[in-house]
Amino acid sequence: MTTQAQATPHEPPGKPTAASRTTLSHIMTGNDTNLLGTVHGGVIMKLVDDAAGAVAGRHSGGPAVTASMDEMVFLEPVRVGDLVHVKAQVNWTGRSSMEVGVRVLAERWNESTPATQVASAYLVFTAVDENGRPRPVPPVVPESERDKRRWQEAQIRRTHRLARRRAIKELRDRRAAEGMTED
Ligand SMILES: CC(C)(COP(=O)(O)OP(=O)(O)OC[C@H]1O[C@@H](n2cnc3c(N)ncnc32)[C@H](O)[C@@H]1OP(=O)(O)O)[C@@H](O)C(=O)NCCC(=O)NCCS
Repeated sequence: MTTQAQATPHEPPGKPTAASRTTLSHIMTGNDTNLLGTVHGGVIMKLVDDAAGAVAGRHSGGPAVTASMDEMVFLEPVRVGDLVHVKAQVNWTGRSSMEVGVRVLAERWNESTPATQVASAYLVFTAVDENGRPRPVPPVVPESERDKRRWQEAQIRRTHRLARRRAIKELRDRRAAEGMTED
């Protein structure tokens, strides 16, 4: 069984979750709105990808590309004048990939009311070398109970991603073998 942050002889040494945890903060302006006048979901997704990319780069010590983004959930609308905080951390590491968990909080820029969570997302980043090929990443070492729970949940998502990808590939291969054609 794979255990948390288990190292093999060729793996780089582990790094604690806290070492690369990052917050990106941004005030929303009129340039960020959709037709309803609230902030466009794509603006938030870009900030999420930016923060997650910074965390993946810090953890892996070099370039990392977005391989997938899943479970992006928008809980509340974000408004012009909101100060948005995008909090990201590496939840889990594989050989060359990392799951990054992101929470998005918003508060009025000029009020001292508590920030509320408006969105969350999980992304997979793959560390790449100068030729764009996957390279090994240090195992993340979850230290707090919260980080250990997030590692375990990320492992479940990883299993589901792989199973889904395999099932879809098998279906397509089967349809192709049966001579099914599409327009
Ligand atoms: C991500 C990428 C480097 C993977 O390359 P690849 O040749 O398929 O490499 P592999 O199949 O060996 O996968 C490498 C790792 O990425 C993971 N991975 C690859 N595709 C994935 C996907 N769609 N979802 C989740 N993880 C994925 C693999 O599980 C593997 O993880 P592991 O090493 O921890 O076990 C390649 O697909 C790529 O360059 N994609 C474009 C990335 C990009 O440009 N992003 C920005 C978009 S604008």
